[in-house]
Amino acid sequence: VLKRSFSSSAGRAAIKHVTVIGGGLMGSGIAQIAAQTGHDVTMVDMSEDILAKSKAYIEQSLSRVARKKYKDDPEAGENFMQETTRRLSTNTDTRDAVQNTDLVIEAIIENIDIKQKLFSGLDNAAPQHTIFASNTSSLPIKDLAKSTSRADRFGGLHFFNPVPVIKLLEVIRLPETSDATFQSLVDFGQAVGKTTVEAKDTPGFIVNRLLVPYIMEAVRLLERGDASARDIDVAMKLGAGYSMGPIELVDYVGLDTLKFVIDGESRWNESMPDNPLFNPSPMLNKLVSEGKLGLKTGEGFEIRM
Ligand code: CAA
Ligand code: NAD
Repeated sequence: VLKRSFSSSAGRAAIKHVTVIGGGLMGSGIAQIAAQTGHDVTMVDMSEDILAKSKAYIEQSLSRVARKKYKDDPEAGENFMQETTRRLSTNTDTRDAVQNTDLVIEAIIENIDIKQKLFSGLDNAAPQHTIFASNTSSLPIKDLAKSTSRADRFGGLHFFNPVPVIKLLEVIRLPETSDATFQSLVDFGQAVGKTTVEAKDTPGFIVNRLLVPYIMEAVRLLERGDASARDIDVAMKLGAGYSMGPIELVDYVGLDTLKFVIDGESRWNESMPDNPLFNPSPMLNKLVSEGKLGLKTGEGFEIRM
């Protein structure tokens, strides 16, 4: 490990400007922490309306961070918010937004065709040295890298929701990812205050490969009527030290997101057919078909608004 980090540090470039594509839940969090830690950031989304909402969301989150970080010095807190906001610009023109950037982090909708189209366009527009990374939860990074001519400058940066709070960042490397690129991604992760772990490009990397089967087993427990949602959550919080119970977590992350991984576009049930942990759940599918997606729609397994 030591040998690799020595040899790979040669030629690695410091990331100064970051372009985050997608200003949704994850993209706005990523843009926020990058700006918060001194990077110049451009956040891209499809319309000014969406970007205005992303900025409002960031401001709300920043004020929570400022309140905590500068508890005894509100003026310093105000400065911190202003400085961070100053470093953050927005753009609806993807090509324009990558003209002078060192790192592009893609956090758009989890759809392989749309992501590939985006990356292929970016490949023509961005400078040679620019590193590309995807925040995908469940799609293979290699399928995204192949729509570019820079697999050596391509990797995964998998953040967790809520981005400003969760300390972990998974850095995914392909066999083609160069040592210098990988080191730049790790350095960037540390610069934005995360603890990084290295993962290969296998389904779910580390966290979701373990978290998804665990959550699906909790849903099946509920489905069989073996325990109530409340009891499953209390059991795992108090009995196993989780900050959220598994059913509560599905409501938080989104029922559609979980379905998407199991038997939606990512189809882990098909890519791992011998593993019953990835079997679809009728209860989950029924709630999704009724539009009950959890926190984002106000109704899910436990949430009833
Ligand atoms: N921005 C800034 N700060 C925030 C925040 C945000 N969006 N959300 C919460 N916080 C801060 C709060 O200000 C609060 O700070 P203090 O402790 O200083 O008061 C702290 O975080 C805790 O928040 P709350 O008191 O509101 O609530 P909580 O204690 O219940 O924590 C939680 C909320 C952080 C979401 C916590 O329950 C948690 O960590 N849950 C687990 C989330 C998780 O597992 N995420 C991973 C999902 S999987 C994934 O993301 C991968 C994927 O590919 C799908
Ligand atoms: P989201 O729906 O909140 O945001 C996606 C944003 O991308 C939207 O604002 C949409 O307008 C924008 N967008 C779509 N196509 C675009 C394009 N071509 N150009 C520019 N913007 C475009 O989704 P999210 O939850 O932020 O997820 C984004 C990515 O992060 C997905 O790949 C997802 O798998 C991954 N992820 C999600 C979570 C989570 O808990 N939600 C956690 C880790 C990773």
